[in-house]
Amino acid sequence: MAINAPEGTRDLLPDEALFWSRFKQMAAEVFGCYGYLPIETPLIEQTELFVRGIGEATDVVSKEMFTALSGENLRRWVEEGQPPKAKSRLSLRPEGTAGTVRAVVQHDLVPQGAAPAKLMYAGPMFRAERPQKGRQRQFNQVGVECLGAEEPTIDAEAIIMLMRFYEKVGIPTRSMRLLLNSMGCERCRPAYRDLVRAYMDEHADDLCETCLTRAELNPLRAFDCKSPGCATVMADAPKITDYLCDECREHYTAVKALLDGAGIGYEEDQALVRGLDYYTRTVFEVQVTDGMGSQNAIGGGGRYDKLAEEVGGRPTPGLGFALGFERCVLALEAAGVEMPRAQRCDLFVACVDDAVRPRAFALVQQCRDAGYACEMDHQHRSLKSQFKLADKLGAARVAVLGPDELARGQVTLRDMGTHAEALVGLDEVTAELGQALL
Ligand code: HAM
Repeated sequence: MAINAPEGTRDLLPDEALFWSRFKQMAAEVFGCYGYLPIETPLIEQTELFVRGIGEATDVVSKEMFTALSGENLRRWVEEGQPPKAKSRLSLRPEGTAGTVRAVVQHDLVPQGAAPAKLMYAGPMFRAERPQKGRQRQFNQVGVECLGAEEPTIDAEAIIMLMRFYEKVGIPTRSMRLLLNSMGCERCRPAYRDLVRAYMDEHADDLCETCLTRAELNPLRAFDCKSPGCATVMADAPKITDYLCDECREHYTAVKALLDGAGIGYEEDQALVRGLDYYTRTVFEVQVTDGMGSQNAIGGGGRYDKLAEEVGGRPTPGLGFALGFERCVLALEAAGVEMPRAQRCDLFVACVDDAVRPRAFALVQQCRDAGYACEMDHQHRSLKSQFKLADKLGAARVAVLGPDELARGQVTLRDMGTHAEALVGLDEVTAELGQALL
């Protein structure tokens, strides 16, 4: 029986893999203008990092982590009943924030008084969720994290930058909505959480089992519940923005004013709590309005002013976001936007017969050495089907080489856009391609 890719994983075939490369390049271009620099952290981290950073009671940590043990530790556990030490318990990263903050703390990237560290990453994340359209067990994210500043300008510029990036990728602005909320801080949130818990106790009969358990551990998670009964109850629950302390309210007001000033449209959504426990103050999410079903969040993030301390660092405020590559591809499809063609073919060299192949091979090589993307047929196709292949590759030009042309040391160079043809010396093809690109 053939072996397929594991459930919830997908191969990025060449077109999509090329788009993924282009996507990362576009992210580096846009985020680079805002001062973000790349960081690469391991795909595996100590499980403890995610437990402390993301929160033990979150779905991501309690149900969805892929935990790994090295062969020897696994053997000792299975055969000798000896559980591994905390340091040897590893998990595949379910997201990039905890690892990035761990790296910032470990390498002291934000020493006292330093400018904020602005970092970006791109790569696979792993969550053992129930697979469905737009929800995978291995998926790719592009994310940014800014550590060392709590000013609302950091929040606003990150949100502006995210929306600019979607524009650059080609997701139509009209098909997205940006949701915004404030989660308060450790001063105002506990009292609010108690209020929501009390409200949920009053409405216990109308809530699902999961939310009743949530009421104990983290009642705010009930705002995320998809069950219709819970959604109705939670719609009338106390709203966090009515209970923010003065500092959090001022911060939130300033973020909104900066977004207004930049002409960024948003909807305030007091039920937006996000699924990770580290958030404080600003949270945001971008959803696609049509054609994506329930998995319609293409990106999200927020502020996490306590996370660095949670993972053993000094107090260092932070803010970031991540966006899902595969969901952005689905959003482009839903909006009827074609994935930008990433493959380049500057020249296709077509052979009229087999006798000219050695010279055609040399010409292709010569053009590639000069930096042009160049291709030829390797299967003895007819001239007609060589042109079809050139078309499929999106070749900008086709050089036709036949015995007559070869005798004169020339090729017929056809512009595939205008269909104009010209005879060009074999040694002048690269110069001609350079002119065409200019
Ligand atoms: P998140 O909302 O869990 O946030 O994930 C960010 C984005 O990753 C989602 O909006 C979605 O597009 C994509 N995504 C998440 N799970 C899946 C999945 N199972 N399959 C496909 N795509 C998925 C975070 O990960 C935070 N670390 C964001 C952040 C950075 N907050 C602060 N800094």
